[in-house]
Amino acid sequence: MDEQAFDAGSVFDEDYLYFYAAGLTDERSDAETDLIWRLLELEPGMRVLDLACGHGRISNRLAARGCEVTGLDATSMFLDLARKDAEARGVAVEYVEGDMRAIPWTGRFDRVVNWFTAFGYFDDDGNREVLSQIVRALRPGGRAALELNNRDLIVREFQPARVSERDGDLMIDRSQIEPLTGRISTERIIVRGGQVRHFPFFVRMFTFTELRDWLLTAGFTAVDGYGEDGTPLTPASRRLIVTATL
Ligand SMILES: C[S@@+](CC[C@H](N)C(=O)[O-])C[C@H]1O[C@@H](n2cnc3c(N)ncnc32)[C@H](O)[C@@H]1O
Repeated sequence: MDEQAFDAGSVFDEDYLYFYAAGLTDERSDAETDLIWRLLELEPGMRVLDLACGHGRISNRLAARGCEVTGLDATSMFLDLARKDAEARGVAVEYVEGDMRAIPWTGRFDRVVNWFTAFGYFDDDGNREVLSQIVRALRPGGRAALELNNRDLIVREFQPARVSERDGDLMIDRSQIEPLTGRISTERIIVRGGQVRHFPFFVRMFTFTELRDWLLTAGFTAVDGYGEDGTPLTPASRRLIVTATL
């Protein structure tokens, strides 16, 4: 696959929520919010940008803990869900439809959160631009956290075919690792309600050291790496969490 970006509208839609919802339990979102709070040393009153916030599962929880949260995402349907959930929880969050390559704020945020493999959707110039935009959106001394696949583990335990099933509906991913681009490229087949849909997408994967160097080049001064539980990254970590300080 040699396109510059995939059609995010094909990937992030109602089918995405349908197949991922079972894994995104309240308990998991609560635990991830705890971890973000701890790793980013968040405090009530801090201004937080949840970049590619999806349906607001992290934004709304951070707002409930007293942060002033802005959620930016490209998928209006997800933002509608996020707003409804915020209303149900009685929290106020500013939700904005936009592109993470063109963040419309400068020096506004104490923290930026980019969670659940929400980075790596573009060519490398585009991906680096996202990091530059995060730097611009932060105030001096601000901090960011990104949560991604741990490439070391993915490469070692690579599964070229994965099937998720929900109530007889199927999501089938046929993937390959592309060493020359650093991406996993996937052909996704959704079989739902008797309808079949195919589309390609890719995600750039990073070793900690490569992403650390990109973040330092973008303007951060200190970068740390953790596994999914917030302990230092190991080869067996399922996820890679990177925190970066301006
Ligand atoms: C894997 S989801 C993660 C959502 C959320 N962070 C979470 O933890 O549930 C990736 C999100 O990126 C959004 N997205 C895709 N391309 C984008 C872009 N160019 N700018 C902003 N958001 C984008 C999608 O709409 C989707 O909500």
